Amino acid sequence: MKFLEPIGRQAGQVLYLVSEFGMESMIKKCLFPAAGYGTRFLPATKSMPKEMLPVVDTPLIQYGVEEALEAGLSEIAIVTGRGKRALEDHFDISYELEHEISNTGKEKSLSGVRQLIDECTFSYTRQVEMKGLGHAILTGRPLIGDEAFAVVLADDLCLNLEGDGVLSQMVKLYEQFRCSIVAIQEVPMEDVSRYGVIAGEALRDDIFRIERMVEKPRPEDAPSNLAIIGRYILTPDIFSLIEQTEPGKSGEIQITDALMKQAQQGCVLAYKFKGQRFDCGSAEGYVQATNFCFENRHRTHPVSAANARLKAVSA
Ligand code: G1P
Repeated sequence: MKFLEPIGRQAGQVLYLVSEFGMESMIKKCLFPAAGYGTRFLPATKSMPKEMLPVVDTPLIQYGVEEALEAGLSEIAIVTGRGKRALEDHFDISYELEHEISNTGKEKSLSGVRQLIDECTFSYTRQVEMKGLGHAILTGRPLIGDEAFAVVLADDLCLNLEGDGVLSQMVKLYEQFRCSIVAIQEVPMEDVSRYGVIAGEALRDDIFRIERMVEKPRPEDAPSNLAIIGRYILTPDIFSLIEQTEPGKSGEIQITDALMKQAQQGCVLAYKFKGQRFDCGSAEGYVQATNFCFENRHRTHPVSAANARLKAVSA
């Protein structure tokens, strides 16, 4: 399949590179902003990262990394903060524990995370001050460099039991459109003030070219009920746009504001993904996620599910 890649400008003309791509994803990196305090889950999050909250038996961050790996993104970059060491320890080998449970039935409980450790690389940087999601993403810049990347907010747990995970769906779209993409879903109008909200021109039933974006508007100011959820694909020019972004809603540097600039200068798409999303930053969403994952226990891990599909095909 051929595509056009803008590679620069000459005499005012955009130069395009025509290339072909195969199976390999062009996006390899996935950034997890994980420095937040998780105040909505106190006291549980007083000394434990909110990303380590278990849904059934698996921490939220692991679901996110599984979703990234399923999408072909194996370079995991995590923006951490104080009190978040458990995240690094989770994606590391625990020799004593593994020795203790080796050759017992418990070994398989660690096989999922072990697969992630074997197949992904993990790098970390610390956000020293909490200045908003835009600032957290900018803090991850040294881990990302000058390439397109995905962002996962681990407390939005996204599952698609029917097929590709949400990031996989978005990576495929990126390969087609080569611009930043945000995942969206319709929410009740009374809930829009919890989200970034978009409005735009429908290119397809499930794809919009963004014309407006507002961070956490009042229902009467919201341009629609299409809410951004915690999955993004960003082109690297977003970093300088974040640098130019003044503090917005709640005095924080908002990724929504930087993306609005990007949409005005070029193109940002919003994608109505296939699957379920649970807001595990709220008690209600967390309980719903737990029930859902318990009921679909063997189908909620995208990497093992993908492996099972592969095995079924090759059998
Ligand atoms: C962030 C974003 C918001 C987005 C939401 C999705 O808000 O700022 O635009 O809709 O994530 O979960 P937060 O929930 O971190 O306040």
